[in-house]
Amino acid sequence: MFGKKKNNPSIDSEQLELIQNAQKRIKQKKRLHVHFVIFLIGSIFLIIANTVLGIGKDLKFFGKEWFLYAILIWLFLFLYHLFNVFVTNKFMGKDWEKSQLDKLVSKQQVRINKLKNELVKEEKLMAQSEVYNETKPQPSITIKETPKNQELTIIAAAGENDAIGRDNQLIWHLSDDLKRFKALTNNHHIIMGRKTFESFPKPLPNRTHIVISRQANYKVPDGVIVVNSIEDAIDAVKNDTQPFVIGGGEIYKQAMLIADKIELTRVHHNFEADTFFPKIDTSIWKEINNTFHDKDKNHAYAFSFITYEKKI
Ligand SMILES: NC(=O)c1ccc[n+]([C@@H]2O[C@H](COP(=O)([O-])OP(=O)(O)OC[C@H]3O[C@@H](n4cnc5c(N)ncnc54)[C@H](OP(=O)(O)O)[C@@H]3O)[C@@H](O)[C@H]2O)c1
Repeated sequence: MFGKKKNNPSIDSEQLELIQNAQKRIKQKKRLHVHFVIFLIGSIFLIIANTVLGIGKDLKFFGKEWFLYAILIWLFLFLYHLFNVFVTNKFMGKDWEKSQLDKLVSKQQVRINKLKNELVKEEKLMAQSEVYNETKPQPSITIKETPKNQELTIIAAAGENDAIGRDNQLIWHLSDDLKRFKALTNNHHIIMGRKTFESFPKPLPNRTHIVISRQANYKVPDGVIVVNSIEDAIDAVKNDTQPFVIGGGEIYKQAMLIADKIELTRVHHNFEADTFFPKIDTSIWKEINNTFHDKDKNHAYAFSFITYEKKI
C-alpha cells in the first residue's frame, strides 16, 4: 500500500506523435543540409576534373563544357529536394492539421452547449424568484413601531436570485456565516416562523426563541415562546435592544416593514429554491457595510456580508 509509486510514462499518444514528427522533421532538414554541402563539393570537383585534370576536355554540348550541364542538373535535383522539405512536406501533414481543427471545433461546441444550458437554467431561476416576489399576496399587517431604543434586525442569507431555502432546509453550509450568525444573535431574542423553527433539530443555545404560528395549541419545548402574530412577537421582545428576525420567507416579508436593519449574507450563486428573500428596495434601505468573503476549502461559494439600514 505504501510501496514506491510505479513510474508510468506521462506522455499520451498525441504528444508521442508530435515528438516523433518533430524528430522526423529534424532528420529531413539535416539531410537537406548534407545534400547542399555534397552539392557544393561535388560541383567544385566536377569543375576541377574538367578544367585541371582534363577529364572529358573535348566533350561539349551546344558549345558548353559537360560539367556545366552536370552541375545544372544537380542544382535542379537539390532545388526539388528543398521544395519537398519546405513546401510540400508540412510539419505534421494536412490530415493531422485537419483532425486538430475538428477537435478544437467540437470542444468549442461542447462549451457553447454548456453555456446555453446554464443560461436557460439561470433564466428559469430568475423568473421563479421574480414570480414569487410579485405574485404572492403581501400579507396585511398593522405596522407597529418598535421602541425607540430598539434596533429590530433581520438576519438572513440569500443567493443572488434571493433563494433562501428548499424543502424547509437551508441550501448551503457556510461555516463563517454560521459563526457570524451565532456571534450577532448570542444572548438576544430570535423571532421566527413556525416552519423555520421546525427546521432546527433543537432550539439554539443562549437565545430566546419567539415562534410565530396561527395554530392555537402549538407545542414547543420549555423556554420557547409561541405567539400568534408578528405584533405579539414585537411585544415579546420589547426589553431587548437588538432582537433578530431570523426567517423564513413569510416572516421576512412581513418584518421588512417594521425592521430597522438588515444583516444580509449575499451568497454569490443562483440556487434552485422554494423560498425566497424579499427584494430589497434601495429607496428604503441604505447599504452601510459590505465585506467580501471568497470561496475556499470550507466555503463552496463566495459571499458578502452586507448591512443595510432603513433610510426613513
Ligand atoms: N437562508 C436563510 O437565512 C434562512 C433563514 C431562515 C429560514 N430559511 C429557510 O426558509 C424556509 C422556511 O420559510 P417559510 O417561508 O416556508 O416559513 P416560515 O416563514 O419559517 O414560517 C411560516 C409559518 O409561520 C407562521 N406565520 C407566518 N405569518 C404569520 C402571521 N402573520 N401570523 C401568525 N403566524 C404566521 C405560519 O405558521 P402556522 O402554519 O403554524 O400557522 C406559517 O406557516 C426554510 O427552507 C428555511 O430553511 C432560510
